[in-house]
Amino acid sequence: MTATAADPLSNLWPLTTSRNDDGVLCVGGIPLPQIAAAVGTPTYIYDVATLRSAAATFRDAFARHYPKSRVVFAGKAFLSTALIRILREERLGLDVVSGGELFAGLQGGMPAHEISMHGNNKSREELEDAIAAGIGKIVIDNEDEIDLLIELTRDLPAPVPVMLRLNPGVDVHTHKKISTGLADSKFGLPISSGQAAEAVARIVAVPSLKLLGYHAHVGSQLFEADAILAAIDEQLAFAAAMRDAHGVELAHLSPGGGFGIAYLGSDRPMAIESWMRMLGEAIIRGCRQRQLDLPVVTIEPGRAIAGPAGIALYTVGARKVLPGIRTYVSVDGGMADNIRPTLYDAVYSADLVASAQDRPRETVTIAGKFCESGDVLIERIDLPVLAPGDLLALPAVGAYCYAMASNYNFARRPAVVFIEDAVATVVRRRETHADLLGLDVTNVLQLSS
Ligand code: LLP
Repeated sequence: MTATAADPLSNLWPLTTSRNDDGVLCVGGIPLPQIAAAVGTPTYIYDVATLRSAAATFRDAFARHYPKSRVVFAGKAFLSTALIRILREERLGLDVVSGGELFAGLQGGMPAHEISMHGNNKSREELEDAIAAGIGKIVIDNEDEIDLLIELTRDLPAPVPVMLRLNPGVDVHTHKKISTGLADSKFGLPISSGQAAEAVARIVAVPSLKLLGYHAHVGSQLFEADAILAAIDEQLAFAAAMRDAHGVELAHLSPGGGFGIAYLGSDRPMAIESWMRMLGEAIIRGCRQRQLDLPVVTIEPGRAIAGPAGIALYTVGARKVLPGIRTYVSVDGGMADNIRPTLYDAVYSADLVASAQDRPRETVTIAGKFCESGDVLIERIDLPVLAPGDLLALPAVGAYCYAMASNYNFARRPAVVFIEDAVATVVRRRETHADLLGLDVTNVLQLSS
C-alpha cells in the first residue's frame, strides 16, 4: 500500500495543526521548525488540546450512555508526569502495568484510589508497593497471584480491593500480537475451562481480599465492537453465575480498552461516541437480562487518547536511489523510537514540514538510521521530493512509540514537547550520551559461597 502525504487538515493530525502563510506545518500556531531548532530531532510533539479533547470525549460520552461510568488512561501507551497532571484535570484515572508506571502515577499526583494495576506476572515488590500505596484495584491475572496476595494481605486491617481478569475466549480482528482475548493467551483466566470460577471461589474465601468484579481486555486497535460486546456478554453471564454460586455481587466491571485510531487517511475508526453508546447499551441490556444491579464500569483507553495527539519530528538525512528498485530516504530516528512498523507491520503517513510548493513528488521508502534492514518507518509513500535537512512529520504516533522506545545502537531517546495555548514545553528531555553510560558501574558483588 502506498501511503499519501497527510493533509494537515485531515483526521490524522492533532486538532491545532495548521499550515501558516508560508505553508509551514504548525501545532498550536508554533511552526515545527522552531521546535526542531530549539530541541533538535527526533522529537515527539503532543498537542495538549487533542489529548484533553479525547479524554473529555471519552468521559462525557460514556457518562451520557452509562450512569456509573469511569475512564482511566492506560499508561502503557505513553506516560509522563506532565500527562498525568492533564489526566487529573480531565478527571481520568490511571491504569498501570508495572511498579515503574505505579511510581510515575503516584509521583505525578494521581490519587492512589484512582489507580488500577494490571499485569500477568506482577512481582511481590510490585504488589507490595500497590498495597502500601492503597491503589483502587489490583486486577488479579492468575492463581499464583492469588497465593501471593493472600500472603501479602494476611495481616492487613482492611481488605484489599481486587478484580479478576477473565479470558473470555473471543476472537478479534486485529494484529495477532495485540489480540489478548483468545483462549490461548497469557492474560487472564479462561472462563471456559472453569479456572476463572475456581479463582472466584478461592478469592471470596479470603477475608483480606475484596472481589469487586471482573475485567477483560480483548485486544487493541479495534475497528469493530463485536469482540468487546461478546466479551461483555461473557463477563456478565459469568458474573451472574458467580452471584448464584457464591453470592458475589458485581460491583465493578471493565471491558478494557482497545479503541482503534486512524493511522492513514483512508482509515475509518469508529467514533468514540458510537463506542460508548454500544458499550453502555450492551451492559445495561446484559445486566437487565440477568437481574444484575448496574456495576461501576471502567474503560481503559490508551491509544485513542494519546495516539492522535502525537507527531514525530525527524530530520531527513541520506537519500539512496536504487535504480529500478526504490529510493530510500533516511531520517534521524526509526525503530529505536518507533518499533511499531517493525513489530506489527504498522503503517504510518508523513508530510514535509516545509511548504511543498513547486517541489515535484516521488514515491519513496522512509528508513530509520538503525543497524537493521527491518528499520523502515514507511514502506512506500508518495511525498514531495525530500532533501537532506528537510523536516519530516509523522502523525498519529502518540501511543506506543515513545513508550516502547529503546536505546538500540545506543540511541538517545527523543525529547518530548507538549504544546498548549501556543506555549511549547519540553516535558521529557532528550537523553544524553552521559545518560547512556550512567548505568555503567564496576560494583564487585560480594557473594556468599
Ligand atoms: N487495558 C488493558 C488491560 C490492556 O492490556 C491494554 C493494552 C489497554 C487497556 C489499552 O489498550 P488501547 O486502548 O491502547 O488499545 N504495543 C501495542 C499495543 C499493546 C496494547 C497492550 N494492552 C501497539 O503498539 O499497537
